Amino acid sequence: MIPPKPAARTGKASVRRFVRDFRSDILSAQSARLYRAWMAEFRGPFIHSFTCNDPKLVDLILRRRPMDFPKSPRMAAGLTPLLGNSSFISNGETWRHQRRIIDPAFERGRLRQSFAAMLAASDAGAARLLALADGQDIDIEPQTSHLAADVIFRTLFSIPIQDRIAAQVFAAFRDHQDSQPMVNAGGLLTLPRWLHFHSRRTKRSAARIRDLIGQLVAARQERISSGDAPPDLATKIMTTPDPETGETFTRAEMIDEVATFFLAGHETAASALAWALFLLAEHPEWQDRILAEGTARDFADMRNLNAARAVFREALRLYPPVAMTVRECAHAETLRDRPAPKGAQLVISPFHLHRHERLWDNPDGFDPDRWDSENGKTCQRKAFIPFSSGPRVCPGAGFAMIEGPLLLSAIIAACRIAPGDSRPVPVMRLTLRGKDGIRLRLTSRSG
Ligand code: HEM
Repeated sequence: MIPPKPAARTGKASVRRFVRDFRSDILSAQSARLYRAWMAEFRGPFIHSFTCNDPKLVDLILRRRPMDFPKSPRMAAGLTPLLGNSSFISNGETWRHQRRIIDPAFERGRLRQSFAAMLAASDAGAARLLALADGQDIDIEPQTSHLAADVIFRTLFSIPIQDRIAAQVFAAFRDHQDSQPMVNAGGLLTLPRWLHFHSRRTKRSAARIRDLIGQLVAARQERISSGDAPPDLATKIMTTPDPETGETFTRAEMIDEVATFFLAGHETAASALAWALFLLAEHPEWQDRILAEGTARDFADMRNLNAARAVFREALRLYPPVAMTVRECAHAETLRDRPAPKGAQLVISPFHLHRHERLWDNPDGFDPDRWDSENGKTCQRKAFIPFSSGPRVCPGAGFAMIEGPLLLSAIIAACRIAPGDSRPVPVMRLTLRGKDGIRLRLTSRSG
């Protein structure tokens, strides 16, 4: 059975209809031709954009000349109240300084140190799901959000999500998202930056989250000063000086980054995990394969989780959490022989690239074995960018590729998963979500 795909536009749309569709869900506003095309140009009242779907063009923008294609300020507009000027938003020297401090915390050697915290979150999450495993139809997305947020709090600050402040951050974050449901790629892209307004509720919830994170950062600063800070990601990031300037993050910079890790690290992982569980519900033979390879109790066991990793990777291909992202031309350019003026918006769509009919075998099918095939290996190198690519690649990619398979194997070991009453329809919100959630039925394997 082919996994669900968003409806696509066929034929030409009026500018008005296109902009309206674009803002409600950027994915289904795209032409069906994009699954075969290399580039599509669009001119609207406030926008001149090029959707870039040619691996060579994507490589040029993300890897070969990234400084000529900075992040679009339109994308940042909805996120600044919460993220300030963090690495997710900034460009130029500020961004370089931030990455020089962050990147060492996510090196492979350091990931090994995060493993015990991830494992604790995974055990707690599997137990929570087991308590819900009575065969009733449930929406799995709130559960995977809870689980992914727990992973972030435990690895970053060595606290579980039940911690008083962690629980308040999680709740305030839900409120923040409810306050601005239009913060999605399409909504942001069709309006120029000066037309973005933040409601009082949005500003208030962002300020509340930043205040709570500020308390965590201040408490950690004290423990670092008194020499009894745990060796987690927060301590690492707060004590690492920029190798070029010798400066460490100020408290304000650290709040920006923690808010970003929380947002970028938990929304994305929650989306990927929910889609992976849905795919497993429709393919019980892969649940058997994951079950057969066991679970991981220490970091070295991770190398045995091949089926879990292949399924997680296939979920990232079919349902990339960051389904689209936007860059801007810093200068006039020529893209595939067409003139692109300075300021043109360049939409990069992992969703379409990952299902490109001229690149992938069986592009819409669920086939985790593809990663061992010639076509799968070639496409993994050229046309698979769930974490982006080049210098702005997600610093949490290695972290997520441990977290995802670990959580999948723990959940499958505890529960049998079956499809719910309805099949999810993918829509692009902040990350790729089910329009009405992702419905599944869980039953305990031991009962
Ligand atoms: C399945 C999980 C994840 C996925 C699919 C994912 C995907 C991405 C993507 C596509 C970008 C680039 C966005 C753009 O160019 O517009 C990004 C950036 C980023 N991600 Fe992740 N991410 C994941 C998990 C994480 C985790 C666990 C963390 C940290 C704890 C993290 C931290 C960041 C940060 C700080 C950036 C901004 C990097 C920069 O612009 O230099 N992500 N992520």
